[in-house]
Amino acid sequence: MILVTGSAGFIGSNFVLDWLAQSDETVINLDKLTYAGNLQNLASLKDDPRHIFVQGDIGDTELLPKLLAQHRPRAVVNFAAESHVDRSIHGPEDFIQTNIVGTFHLLEGVRSYWQSLPSPASGRGVGGEGVTQSDFRFLHVSTDEVYGSLTKDEPAFTETHRYEPNSPYSASKAASDHLVRAYHHTYGLPVLTTNCSNNYGPYHFPEKLIPLMIVNALAGKNLPVYGDGQQIRDWLYVKDHCSAIRCVLDKGKLGEVYNVGGWNEKANLDIVHIVCALLDELRPRPDGKSYREQITFVTDRPGHDRRYAIDARKIERELGWKPVETFETGIRKTVQWYLDNQDWVNNVLSGNYRQWVEKNYAART
Ligand code: NAD
Ligand code: TYD
Repeated sequence: MILVTGSAGFIGSNFVLDWLAQSDETVINLDKLTYAGNLQNLASLKDDPRHIFVQGDIGDTELLPKLLAQHRPRAVVNFAAESHVDRSIHGPEDFIQTNIVGTFHLLEGVRSYWQSLPSPASGRGVGGEGVTQSDFRFLHVSTDEVYGSLTKDEPAFTETHRYEPNSPYSASKAASDHLVRAYHHTYGLPVLTTNCSNNYGPYHFPEKLIPLMIVNALAGKNLPVYGDGQQIRDWLYVKDHCSAIRCVLDKGKLGEVYNVGGWNEKANLDIVHIVCALLDELRPRPDGKSYREQITFVTDRPGHDRRYAIDARKIERELGWKPVETFETGIRKTVQWYLDNQDWVNNVLSGNYRQWVEKNYAART
């Protein structure tokens, strides 16, 4: 059994769906269901006994110890976070609360659970008696944004790059990474950290660049490109991020950090052009014009990081992980997914996904 936090969100829900497609190991899903949490992502698991959903906060100091004691997971994977840079600029407080204070409480709960587990040296916990201290893992999911911004010619971020976060979001994630590191060095907590580049794929909330462009294009709205659109992000298909996390959980060296990325740097404007070209092909505009006509250059984001790029050689070399999708295959799948899942999009845009949760999960939360 594993406990996964934040798994009603974009990456977490993809992770749980992939996990249960490949294994029968039960997942406890602890999620607060903020605006970004959408249980409709996990609708296919609604009556699946291998998925136990608990609505709650990672910072809830009563709930967490109870959950850990009751289910005795062999691992905790922490996706829960406030994740949108623009929101962090307009209102950083939730980011401090969840990403820093919440992660701290989560670590405290996990530490005390882990310390209560039998150690192999005690003679207990061996021979199939359940999870031991040495089996246990805490995997913290983080971002490349903690490393700050690169100029055009600087080499990609390695795991030893200095932390230089520039937004309230990345600063709060950096703080959480430091706490995770400290719990390993101080208490010996068996932690692993992954720092991944920008993800894209199914169930991505349409406030982030790629899903926003798809959804706005189809709705005939403007496609807002910040500044000159020449900022660079390094894109990874979400399922490849999920496979990297499974790989690190399985084979990662305790206390280590693994950068995750697919060597796919692209300027934002190029991304928008690619999305428009795919939509022109798959769902042409009724007037026969290109969706590019909807591109609008808008005021830049304050403190906008110019370039992110991940050097993924460590995870490739040491753990043998490699992404499956190229950007071309992944973005085509993504655009097609949004075209095939208009109900999901409409429910998100109208806010109806909240009522869906109450109707379908009320009795179980
Ligand atoms: P998301 O915003 O889509 O989902 C976050 C989930 O966490 C939501 O389901 C939300 O309800 C839940 N949550 C928020 N606060 C909570 C709390 N206090 N307690 C319990 N649950 C809470 O985010 P995402 O894009 O899926 O990102 C997941 C993780 O991966 C984050 O930690 C993020 O920093 C990291 N990450 C994201 C990307 C990316 O491109 N999206 C890249 C690298 C790393
Ligand atoms: P985003 O998806 O918010 O991810 P992050 O800020 O974590 O990288 O944004 C990706 C890039 O796209 C970023 O450089 C900001 C830019 N962007 C736009 O130009 N227009 C938009 O409407 C959005 C949401 C983002």
